[in-house]
Amino acid sequence: MKPLLTFAKLAFFAFALLLGLPASSQHDHLGGAVEDPRFLAQFPPMMQAHILANMRDHLLAISQIQEAMAAANYDKASQIAEERLGQTALKTHGAYENSQFMPPMMQEFGNQMHRNASKFAIEIQNSSATGDSKPALLALSKTTQACVSCHAAFRLK
Ligand code: HEC
Repeated sequence: MKPLLTFAKLAFFAFALLLGLPASSQHDHLGGAVEDPRFLAQFPPMMQAHILANMRDHLLAISQIQEAMAAANYDKASQIAEERLGQTALKTHGAYENSQFMPPMMQEFGNQMHRNASKFAIEIQNSSATGDSKPALLALSKTTQACVSCHAAFRLK
């Protein structure tokens, strides 16, 4: 069995060489060799800690919104979204101070998140009247898409 495996390996490398693929370009999913393509957004250290604590609360808020929705507690879901992620959160979380350090594209992702969270807060209240939760779910998904987009593009320094 072993010589066969070795042969397979050799054949693989020969094939990879033929294709002009350097062996080092092949890494697994978690490969540290991959370069980090995200932009560095520079913030003062005190602010970084504040932002990251905020971020962890964003994730907690999303999970609490889902929990409230499962319990058909739409008012609660609406309140969490508005106060912790929506336009109201923008003021209470000192987002204005933070946004001064953000590149314009990062600001735009932040705005998208706040806007869509506030939209969700309204739509989920409509849901309890109409019985249709699809518009609310769409707004929630646009909220999390803003998280995903910003995370794909930026990291802190
Ligand atoms: C405007 C950009 C932006 C938006 C919008 C955003 N984040 Fe982040 N988030 C960041 C950055 C930048 C980091 C730090 C990443 C790094 O340095 O590797 C981060 C880190 C985090 C972390 C890790 C915190 C830690 O302690 O390390 C969590 C959790 C998180 N975000 C959740 C969320 C959730 C949930 C949302 C949406 C509801 C969200 N974020 C929206 C930019 C954003």
